[in-house]
Amino acid sequence: MSTNPVWDGERLCYGGDWNPEQWPAEVWREDVTLMRRAGVNLVTVGVFAWSRLEPTPGRHTADWLDRVLDLLHDNGIRAALATPTAAPPPWFTLAHPDALPVTADGVRLHHGSRDTYCAAAPAYRAAARDIAGFLADRYAHHPALALWHVHNEYGTSCHCPHADAAFRRWLADRYGDFDALNAAWVTSFWSQHYSDWAQLATPRATQYLSNPGQLLDFRRFWSDTLLAAYTEQRDLLRAANPAVPVTTNYVLGDWVPVDHARWASEVDLVAIDHYPSAVDGGAEEQTALAADLARGWARHGAYRRGAGDDSWLLMESAPNQIHTAGRMHTKEPGRLARHSLGHVARGSRGVMFFQWRAPAGGAERFHSAVVPHAGPDSRVFREAAQLGDLLGRITEATAGRVAAAVALGWDAASAWALRHPGMPSRAPDHHAEVAAAHRALWRAGVACDLVPPGDPLDGHRLLVLPALYLAADATVDWVRRHVDAGGHLLVTWLSGVADEHARIRLGGYPGAFRDLLGVRVEEFHPLADGDRVALTGGGYGELWTETVHLAGAEPVAGYRGGVLDGRPAITRHRRGDALAWYVSTRPDDGTYQRLLAGAARDAGVAPVCPAVPPGVEAVRRHDGDRSWLFLLNHTDRPQRVPATGTELVTGEQVDEALTVPAGGVAVLREPPR
Ligand code: GLA
Ligand code: GLA
Repeated sequence: MSTNPVWDGERLCYGGDWNPEQWPAEVWREDVTLMRRAGVNLVTVGVFAWSRLEPTPGRHTADWLDRVLDLLHDNGIRAALATPTAAPPPWFTLAHPDALPVTADGVRLHHGSRDTYCAAAPAYRAAARDIAGFLADRYAHHPALALWHVHNEYGTSCHCPHADAAFRRWLADRYGDFDALNAAWVTSFWSQHYSDWAQLATPRATQYLSNPGQLLDFRRFWSDTLLAAYTEQRDLLRAANPAVPVTTNYVLGDWVPVDHARWASEVDLVAIDHYPSAVDGGAEEQTALAADLARGWARHGAYRRGAGDDSWLLMESAPNQIHTAGRMHTKEPGRLARHSLGHVARGSRGVMFFQWRAPAGGAERFHSAVVPHAGPDSRVFREAAQLGDLLGRITEATAGRVAAAVALGWDAASAWALRHPGMPSRAPDHHAEVAAAHRALWRAGVACDLVPPGDPLDGHRLLVLPALYLAADATVDWVRRHVDAGGHLLVTWLSGVADEHARIRLGGYPGAFRDLLGVRVEEFHPLADGDRVALTGGGYGELWTETVHLAGAEPVAGYRGGVLDGRPAITRHRRGDALAWYVSTRPDDGTYQRLLAGAARDAGVAPVCPAVPPGVEAVRRHDGDRSWLFLLNHTDRPQRVPATGTELVTGEQVDEALTVPAGGVAVLREPPR
């Protein structure tokens, strides 16, 4: 990857999606003036501009984009130039009806929105390569070009005949023969034995429950298919100018059939879009989790490529309104900077918004923008301009890297497998369980790295595995090596239950980890929505309980009342100097926080900044003997934090303690250690 001035440490990236194709040229000039006022140095252009770039098949009209890129360059603003392949024009769908996506119910979707394609359809892939190739030829050496932004939020799937054919080829590659496939999917159940590739199809709507192995492989297949769609664009963009990095913006959500960790070694820079779904309490925790995930993927990508660091880019976020749960929520003053720094503190090379200017029409006319419908004389624009100024002051802090001694497992395949409707209850959700553990650590002030199974655990004293439902043999070895090397382990309910094909590991749960944890689980007792069971020692278990037999472990807390009264709920197994914990229920937030803080302490891991008052988030970045402390005050009153150094936002020298304003932020350059 090039040393690109947009993120070579001189300036944090700042900007967002800009859609000049929606506006006349005089608005472009006003926009660029406002961008300069706000400190913007990078904008994403062209994301959904296919029909403006190629209004009829093969006829290109890019003069407007030439002028846009020249205007940006003249103003010192660089471009993340997008390939517009997430929104094929109407002419494409009319010419290629076979490339329209089909749902599991067999309904063909039509144009009029976006993402109207099957990514396995040859005509779509060819058209996508053509338009990407056109942009590569025309702009690969444009001086404004900083980054290629391929597509937008890969995440679609399809059940059309092209998808069927591609799925069959993928299965033939993976399994080689029917014996292996039949064994992996346990097709002896309900007469599903396959004897000809032609019998295989994508998992369409069925009378009753579908095959769990088939559903899991369907997700894996789409992750690989979408990745192939990305890499073929990437390769031709790269060929046109190898110095320009290429990426795509990840969309987060449990519906996404994309294994973001696996993709990380194929992008030059991990880029995520993040919109918290929680509005009041919870948005800060979600921000921290998304940012830690992004850093975890970047770390994984660097490890797989054998090079690179763990920095990444927040490619989209909402400057103001967030649409969630059927309603638009306005961010209150200060949250813009706090959320943005929550990302920067954890390794983002900048802050990008969706979007720069609010559209006058179109489906997302009420989505968030730096320049809202009211215009730049607005709170959101003023806060964005203040943030641009602030980012300019704290750049040196990004030289440091987050160091965490707790690793939290995250696994796309476990998340997918747990979505099968035939699970013992609707409660199991890998993302939700990872989020609960992360939230507990966040509240305890303990830093953690999100790690896909198999990643190096160097310096990680404690490995936490929440609902890691699938455990391939290699994953079991990875966990065992960590414990054998003296690492502490904490595993929660529904982990290690199945193998990589979602087949149950027999002999009692959690099959893969029974001996490490010194327990054997005989039965699951999922709780009804809203029910809870008291735990000895205080607190409650929610969602799920289990009949746990001790097989070497000692009980730490037990169930109180109900059918499991007096039986172990949380256990601890001593393995040499290390402890291996098992948690057979979802502890309430307070109990979980105490449990994880204690497990971290036992493993010799301290909070980032033990002296911060509740509600103040602390993230430290290190570079050799230098360090920077980010402090985010999520409370509505000023908070005093014992600290020394130079506060970069105000330039203030701090000798003993720093006051972080209500809802405000501070970034401290600490004295060298
Ligand atoms: C019915 C069916 C069985 C099985 C059970 C599930 O009784 O006949 O095949 O699906 O339900 O408990
Ligand atoms: C996503 C998309 C954008 C836009 C926003 C909505 O992140 O990438 O195109 O739809 O959501 O806020």
